[in-house]
Amino acid sequence: MSTPAAAYSPGLEGVVAAETRLSHVDGEAGKLILAGLPVEVLAPTATFEETLHLFWEGSLPGRNELDLLERELAERRVLPPATYELLRAAADGAAEPMDALRMAAATLSLAPGAGDPREDARRLVAAFPTIVAAHWRLRAGEPPIAPDPALGHVANYLYMLEGARPHPRRERALTTYLNTVIDHGMNASTFTARVIISTRSDVVSAVTGAVGALKGPLHGGAPGPALDMVFEIGEASRAEAVVRRMLERGDRLMGFGHRVYKVRDPRADVLSQAARTLADEGEAAELHALARAVEETVLRLLEEQKPGRRLKTNVEYYTALLLHGIGLPKELFTPTFAIGRVGGWTAHCFEQLEGGRLIRPASVYTGEEHGRWTPIDQRR
Ligand code: ACO
Repeated sequence: MSTPAAAYSPGLEGVVAAETRLSHVDGEAGKLILAGLPVEVLAPTATFEETLHLFWEGSLPGRNELDLLERELAERRVLPPATYELLRAAADGAAEPMDALRMAAATLSLAPGAGDPREDARRLVAAFPTIVAAHWRLRAGEPPIAPDPALGHVANYLYMLEGARPHPRRERALTTYLNTVIDHGMNASTFTARVIISTRSDVVSAVTGAVGALKGPLHGGAPGPALDMVFEIGEASRAEAVVRRMLERGDRLMGFGHRVYKVRDPRADVLSQAARTLADEGEAAELHALARAVEETVLRLLEEQKPGRRLKTNVEYYTALLLHGIGLPKELFTPTFAIGRVGGWTAHCFEQLEGGRLIRPASVYTGEEHGRWTPIDQRR
């Protein structure tokens, strides 16, 4: 039996599967570079359209380039009629928002110009907020709100959810979040997109698969449960007892631990700062203080109960706090993550199409080698 040249690496840990100029994750130093800029410089400063241009074109846009990209996205926000029909059926069938997003993403192959990678990418990025907002409203028995072409990408998302133009502070906070999560090395959903496009499939297929990968609780599905934990604890004095009980039960604490980061995830700092800026007084500030106290307790108990595993705060913990502070319901946390990450997925598709090889790893066969064929009437 032939064996693969490389050793088996469960979860592909440590395996280098691509070269990329899009992001650099330094898990030991706790640093993240997004297309050449540190996350703490880019995320709180750029508009989402500027970040997108940086990812798609490799440079920050000039004024005319930015105007053009903003216009191109705004023109593609309205969904094909069949997509709205599907979202109605999804709402009637009580589909979860991530399932609705995955199903609706696939229907964007019906949009004009589909099949061209650049056109698909613009359409997907432009349409994701419309899909999420339309499905959310339909689920609540309310009609979708038509996109407003006068608003930027992020403000328009909040507008389509709520029916009112958002305060610039909320728009800024959400933009910071979307910029922060736009890309992150060879994470599971990005790898999924690259595998699919590496077969010379199309960008809509690649992104649809990526949405499916993002949905799982070990990837993008963690912030809702992270917030639940903070609410369940309720006050700092209860943190120790509740967290100890969870760890004794063998629970994983959502928002902690990472395959790559062995120190604090730098995105947690950017998002914690954005959450604090948004929540400078009242209830929100109290929740922020509680989250900090819970974080301290969790880190201490993880060190005590899981010594040497180096489990630190990841992006999802402060995602939960920030998105809650912006006023998004927790069911929309993961779809909102997808609204940011679709920028990275599409940029990775372009990069993979530019020169990447078909992704086709090997496996080690562990089954029977000398099995015998048994006719069906002799099988037990
Ligand atoms: N809480 C408690 N224990 C944990 C946690 C956690 N959050 N994370 C890891 N561990 C423990 C494991 O139980 C295991 O312990 P053991 O050695 O006694 O068996 C050890 O740490 C190593 O865990 P692995 O599962 O091998 O580590 P892996 O690199 O596969 O896990 C992951 C990374 C999946 C993110 C994990 O830390 C986890 O489940 N975290 C909670 C979910 C979460 O926050 N996900 C979002 C990640 S960020 C993102 O994708 C955007």
